[in-house]
Amino acid sequence: MSTTMTPPSSPSPTSSPAGAVAANPPAPTWSKGLEGIIAAETKMSFIDGAKGILEYVGIPIDDLARNSSFEETVYLLWNGRLPKRAELEAFTQELRGNYELPAGFVDRIQTCPKAAAPMHMLRTMVSSLSMYDANPDANDIPTARKKALAILGQTPAIIAAFDRHRRGLPFVAPRKDLSFAANFLYMLNGKEPTEAVTRAFDVCMILHADHGLNNSTFTARVIISTLSDMYSAITGAIGSLRGPLHGGANEEVMEMLNEIEQLAKSQNKAPMDIIEPFIMDRLARRNEGARIMGFGHRVYKTIDPRATFLKTFSKQIATDTGNLKLYEMSSRIEDIMKREVGAKGIYPNVDFYSATTYHSIGLKLDLFTPMFAMSRISGWAGHVLEQLDGNRLFRPTTKYVGPHDAPYVPMDKR
Ligand code: ACO
Repeated sequence: MSTTMTPPSSPSPTSSPAGAVAANPPAPTWSKGLEGIIAAETKMSFIDGAKGILEYVGIPIDDLARNSSFEETVYLLWNGRLPKRAELEAFTQELRGNYELPAGFVDRIQTCPKAAAPMHMLRTMVSSLSMYDANPDANDIPTARKKALAILGQTPAIIAAFDRHRRGLPFVAPRKDLSFAANFLYMLNGKEPTEAVTRAFDVCMILHADHGLNNSTFTARVIISTLSDMYSAITGAIGSLRGPLHGGANEEVMEMLNEIEQLAKSQNKAPMDIIEPFIMDRLARRNEGARIMGFGHRVYKTIDPRATFLKTFSKQIATDTGNLKLYEMSSRIEDIMKREVGAKGIYPNVDFYSATTYHSIGLKLDLFTPMFAMSRISGWAGHVLEQLDGNRLFRPTTKYVGPHDAPYVPMDKR
C-alpha cells in the first residue's frame, strides 16, 4: 500500500538578515507511486474516483459518448468549450488537412520489421515525425498546437500503414472526406466501415481522449516542462502507455479471455465452466503479483464510468455481430470480481470492456493499445499546451535511504 509521510526534519521557513522570509521549498511529502499528490492543474478532465464520475470540461463522459464526436471532443478539450457549428467544421477540416504523412514517410514505415510490436513501431515513428518538421522545437502555443494537430492527424496513417505492411498489403492513402474514426478504419481495411462500426470506434476514441494526470499524461507534462518539444512529449507518453499496468492492459484482457478459452478447450469444457476456478486461482496468487487485467484503478474505487458505458455498448455490438460469447465471459468475470474484491474497491476499468468492444468490431489484439494512443494523443497534447502556458520545471526529490559518510575503499582493498 502507498504511504504518505512528512519527515520530522522538514525544513521550516527561516528569516533572512533583512527580516524577509526566505523562499524555502515546501516541506517534502512522500507517497509511493505519487498516490494522492497533486502535481498539475488542468481544465480538461475531472475525476471523482469514489463516485465514479468523469467529466471533460464539466460535461459528463456519458453525455459526450452518447452525443458527441471525437473531433468535437478534441475541440472541447483544447478550447475549454463546445464549438459552434462553423468552428467545428473549421477544426475538422484542419485536422483532415493533416491526415497525409510527410513525403517518403510511408517508405520509412515499410522498412520496419514486420514482426515488430505496433507500439514500438508507433513510438519510433511518432518520434521520427520531428525530423520532417522544419521547426520541431517551437514551443509557442499556436505553433505547438499546430504540431499537436499534425501528430493527431497523422497517427492513424502510421498505424494503418504498418499493419498493412506486415500483412503484405499496399498502403491505402487517407481520405479527407472521412471522419477521424472512419478514415482510420478505411486505411486499415481498404474499405469504408459501416456506420455502426464507425460510431463504435468513434465512441472508443471519445472515451479514451483524456483522463487527468495518468502515468502517460504525467510523462508528457514532465518532458515538456524542460521546454523540450511536442514530439518528445508524445513519444515519451507512448512509451509509458504501452506498459501492462496502464494502456497495455486492454491487450492483456483479450489475452486473458483467449487463455480461458484455450484452457477450456484443453479440458474439454465450456469456457463459462472454468472462469470461476481461473479467476479464483489468479486472485489466490495476488501476493505473487498475479492480476486480473482490466480491473482496479489508482483513482476509481468504484466502477470506472467509461467501463459502465462500454459494458452496455459492447453488449450491443456483440449482439449485433452475433458474437456474444466474449461479452458473456467478461460479464461473468465482473460478477466474480465484484463478489470477491468489490469491497476492496477493485472494479472494471476502461480497458476491460474496451477489449471486447474492439474485438467485436474486428480489430486485431496488438492494435488495441495503439488505438488507445491514437485517441489519447489529444489528451497528452492538451496537457502539453496547458503545461507550456505557465510552465514550471518538474523536479521532485528522492527520499535517500542509502548510507552516509561511507569510506572510499581503494580498488585492491575491496
Ligand atoms: N487484480 C487483482 N488484484 C488487484 C488488482 C487486479 N487487477 N488491482 C489491484 N489489486 C489489489 C492488489 O493486489 C492490492 O492488494 P493488497 O492490498 O491485498 O496488496 C490492492 O488491490 C491495491 O493494488 P495496487 O497495485 O497497490 O493499486 P495501484 O493503485 O497501485 O494500482 C493498477 C492500480 C496498477 C491499475 C492495478 O489495479 C492493476 O494492476 N490493475 C491491472 C492492470 C490494469 O487493468 N491496468 C489498467 C488501468 S486503467 C488505465 O491505465 C487506462
